[in-house]
Amino acid sequence: MQNHTSGDNSGKGHSKAERFSSTGFILTAIGSAVGLGNMWKFPYITGKYGGAAFFLLFIVCLLIVGLPVLLAELSIGRGGRGNPASSFFRLSNSKTWGVLGFISIVVPFLILSFYSVIAGWTIHYAVISFSNVLYESSDFTEHFNSFAASNLPVVWQIVVMFLTGWVVAKGISGGIEKFNKILIPGLLALLVILMVRALTLPGGMAGVDFFLRPDFSKLSTESVLVALGHAFFSLSLGMGTMVTYGRYVERQQSLGAASLAVGGGDLIYALIAGLIVFPTSFAFGIEPGQGPGLVFMALPAAFSAMPLGSFFGGLFFILLAIAALTSAVSLLEVPVAFVMDTWKWTRKKATIFTATACGLIGIPSALSVGGILGGYTIAGKPLLDFVDFVCSNILLPMCGLIVTLFVGYVWKKAGEEAGLSSFWFRIWMFVMRYIAPVLVVLIFLYSAGVIGFK
Ligand code: PHE
Repeated sequence: MQNHTSGDNSGKGHSKAERFSSTGFILTAIGSAVGLGNMWKFPYITGKYGGAAFFLLFIVCLLIVGLPVLLAELSIGRGGRGNPASSFFRLSNSKTWGVLGFISIVVPFLILSFYSVIAGWTIHYAVISFSNVLYESSDFTEHFNSFAASNLPVVWQIVVMFLTGWVVAKGISGGIEKFNKILIPGLLALLVILMVRALTLPGGMAGVDFFLRPDFSKLSTESVLVALGHAFFSLSLGMGTMVTYGRYVERQQSLGAASLAVGGGDLIYALIAGLIVFPTSFAFGIEPGQGPGLVFMALPAAFSAMPLGSFFGGLFFILLAIAALTSAVSLLEVPVAFVMDTWKWTRKKATIFTATACGLIGIPSALSVGGILGGYTIAGKPLLDFVDFVCSNILLPMCGLIVTLFVGYVWKKAGEEAGLSSFWFRIWMFVMRYIAPVLVVLIFLYSAGVIGFK
């Protein structure tokens, strides 16, 4: 944190500064943004909180808070040319801000420990769908529960950590960027195939209607806060990932344009995911607002009833796995870059160390959803849910608040780094100073259960 040169990657331990190409950066940032949040969480919260009206609300939240905070994080990363701790420190010359920045290095590490578990489930489901094993039983809830109770989730979680580590160890342009440049367009192709399949199912149009025809009477204050929280999670904000990616962006790249492209990409992938999940659910009489079990427990029933279902189901789970892996890579890069900077380790050594540590602390999470640790709960939740709750609902808004206050009140040269015209700069500052902090505090109070709606 105190080191002023290491973050530029030009210091000891790095042969030359690592940098993204310009399209590579956009695709990589989209890869981070598009993840289980878009494919797994977005459909069920949209189902629960008001369908199309919720979707519109989500777009508004992306525009008015998501994009400005995304721009802030990218600017901090490029301006400070370091990890979140060293960038905050360098730009403010204050140790307190360095320590605050450090929190957003711990959060992605913890998030990855359980994100990799869910990513592992998706790979397992892809395998058993293609091989038809999934469809041998007809009780998919029971099937999921017995899988979660076995030791297999640990095996798949280790596979995910290994793949993620392998990509990160190869570096920015030769690993992370290359991986995303192939997989993000590939993901789009898979999404389009599945969307066409879903839209041509008899009865599927009722799902489109639910997803795209707004009924504002369904909205509540709670929907607003859920939409806001999800805009944050979906753009990978508050976890140091966009700060870390920002450090590898070339000076001449426009961060404002990049933020728009990443926000637009995130939205398009969420839209298509909705156009797959809702028509499929409606065509087979599945209730889309039923919660986290939607994709693992309910959708297999739809695939089993559809011609070539094991193939389309397999593709669907592959799609989830790819989305999860490109996000996992961005989560791992945050602590890896920090370890490289701090201990002057090579990328390979830092990756092996960090991925192993993260894999080990994820094992109890993998065994906590009905597995051998299923009997132990913390604050009434299985370990995986508890870590998710603390990270997503407490630490993430906290880091988001740190970013908005830092850019709004502390870092005086933020505008130069962001490169906005004076008109947009004034709007950005207004959001950073007055709108985003208030909204983030509200998300926090709501998610932490301090304010509730019943
Ligand atoms: N944005 C990812 C998603 O939608 C989650 C994520 C958050 C990934 C933060 C990386 C960092 O699933």
